[in-house]
Amino acid sequence: MKITNAEIVISAVSQKQYPNDQLPEIALAGRSNVGKSSFINTIINRKNLARTSSKPGKTQTLNFYKLNNAFYFVDVPGYGYAKVSKKEREKWGKMMEEYFQTRDTLNAVILITDVRHEPTSDDIQMYDFLKYYQLPVIVVATKLDKVPKNKIDAHLKRTKETLEMEADDYLLPFSAEKGYGKEEAWNLLKKFI
Ligand code: GTP
Ligand code: MG
Repeated sequence: MKITNAEIVISAVSQKQYPNDQLPEIALAGRSNVGKSSFINTIINRKNLARTSSKPGKTQTLNFYKLNNAFYFVDVPGYGYAKVSKKEREKWGKMMEEYFQTRDTLNAVILITDVRHEPTSDDIQMYDFLKYYQLPVIVVATKLDKVPKNKIDAHLKRTKETLEMEADDYLLPFSAEKGYGKEEAWNLLKKFI
């Protein structure tokens, strides 16, 4: 898809701040530092619209990016970062629950995992949480550039099995570094926007 217009509309921490123009929305989810913000930048061909960092915990709010004045990507803070206080974690949990449980215009969620590693218990919990709310899930196994070619299939199989993915969920190999999977990502996302 050609993105001709990309803008951040708001960094929200609660429901009353969400945009209310009723455009379809796709949210990201995944561990801290896994590559959520990088995924957004790569597929929309912008180097730094969504702020990224080599340190975990960069994204702290729900960031609503409006694309082509037609739909939103919502970048979210990651989970599973050890150096976060209990209070911060609770705040994160409330913000995420409020968003995923109440957002009517949320059409699908992109769950990003690191293709190198077996999905963590947090990943499994997030996947199950999204399925519980009957949200279509696209699992994106990113950092593909870090896995030798002859090992890729085995890594993807492990991701699928560990998450116990359902037959109608998609698993997409991806690399923000190399741009692998961009076209396939849009082909899947088109169905939801
Ligand atoms: P939080 O906002 O902290 O939750 O992190 P995030 O999931 O948004 O991760 P972010 O996109 O900021 O990327 C984290 C780090 O991983 C950065 O140093 C990126 O350059 C790197 N990274 C992201 N995607 C890829 C990829 O496909 N390949 C490689 N090699 N590095 C990647
Ligand atoms: Mg981020």
